[in-house]
Amino acid sequence: MKYLAPSILSADFWNLQKDITATLDGRADIIHFDVMDGLFVPNITVGPYVLECLKKHIPNTTFDAHLMIKDPDRYIKDFVEAGASMISVHIEEVVHIHRTIELIKHLGAKAGVAINPGTSLEVLDEILYYVDFVLLMSVNPGFGGQSFIERSIYRAKSLKQKIKDKNLNVLIEMDGGLKLENIHLVKDYVDIFVIGSGIFKAPDITAMTKSLKQVLSDV
Ligand code: DX5
Ligand code: ZN
Repeated sequence: MKYLAPSILSADFWNLQKDITATLDGRADIIHFDVMDGLFVPNITVGPYVLECLKKHIPNTTFDAHLMIKDPDRYIKDFVEAGASMISVHIEEVVHIHRTIELIKHLGAKAGVAINPGTSLEVLDEILYYVDFVLLMSVNPGFGGQSFIERSIYRAKSLKQKIKDKNLNVLIEMDGGLKLENIHLVKDYVDIFVIGSGIFKAPDITAMTKSLKQVLSDV
């Protein structure tokens, strides 16, 4: 099963309700919620209160909080309580990654480790045994609308092989620069497709969501 996760970073925040509803009308599976603190990445976005407001109105929607912040342990509980059922933290930031992953799982959410394009996949070797998913960044985190880094195709392929070799059940989520025109490049390796500008900057958000879902459902 392939999942489509619109990233609301590229939504029109004046029309957030309308934009999110448009993706759900197109049968988006997960809402990707990017959290940035201006320190780990050079941008600032939204926090648990915004997530809580969204979750209150669409309680059956799965929210995936991608924490691009310093010392994320401080806020994991807040995001779970606000309604995130998937949480990822960056391997580049978290020193005691095993402890943090266990904390996320203990709080009842699916735990993910996120990895930047410039970080070797080898650092995942041990933590792969504990996570539910890996968030493979295909741009440098911080902004929507950046170009897809081509080497991410190879990285997705080798990560999938690694997971298979270890006989693990870990999903691969890819985030950054994905669009209708290029998802076929990684379709065989990726399970969760995060798409921001490729959905929210489209003239018809629902139609674009449906087209993406169609491509992902074609075998
Ligand atoms: C980037 C974020 C992404 C971003 C993707 O730091 O993690 O989720 O919204 O946006 P696009 O799809 O426009 O690259
Ligand atoms: Zn993200």
